[in-house]
Amino acid sequence: MRIEEVTDHSRDDAVELLAQFFREEGFGTPRPDIERNLSRMLADASCWAALASGPEGAAGVITVTTMLCVEWGRLAEIGDLYVVPDQRRRGVARRMVDAAIAWCRRERCSGIIVTITPDGENRHRLSRFYSRMGLATTGRIIWSMPLPD
Ligand SMILES: CC(C)(COP(=O)(O)OP(=O)(O)OC[C@H]1O[C@@H](n2cnc3c(N)ncnc32)[C@H](O)[C@@H]1OP(=O)(O)O)[C@@H](O)C(=O)NCCC(=O)NCCS
Repeated sequence: MRIEEVTDHSRDDAVELLAQFFREEGFGTPRPDIERNLSRMLADASCWAALASGPEGAAGVITVTTMLCVEWGRLAEIGDLYVVPDQRRRGVARRMVDAAIAWCRRERCSGIIVTITPDGENRHRLSRFYSRMGLATTGRIIWSMPLPD
């Protein structure tokens, strides 16, 4: 299994997996938005995305976004992490998270965070998965609001 940064050449494979991820998990983001937002991220040095690929093609995708803030300096967030169902529990996600952490270190990030949705927790016990990856809950609660044009 190779873990490689997403380039223009592999962008369509990444979009396909992200669309599958959003569909399976019930996120409503339309595919054209997924495509546009991923392209913006690939063109922005503060973001990173990688694909895991094996003999049968693309098996997983991860995206990371970084931001500057007073508390952390440069802080990274895992925005998306997905492994196709028939490749799970083989260490694919761990290898992508390790590659993401290596990139974050090179970018001098001082920490990495992830948001776990209640549905993700119920379906995949994500808190157990992320604690295996070395992350721990902060107890903070994320609130959000769309800002339409
Ligand atoms: C969560 C997900 C990415 C895990 O991918 P994976 O390739 O199966 O994970 P790995 O095989 O690398 O597992 C890494 C470790 O986590 C553990 N683990 C994996 N999935 C787990 C789960 N659902 N619950 C508890 N532990 C889990 C593994 O046992 C392994 O532990 P170990 O290395 O200490 O033995 C995958 O199930 C998935 O794509 N889920 C749907 C999308 C999703 O919810 N993504 C998260 C968005 S925040």
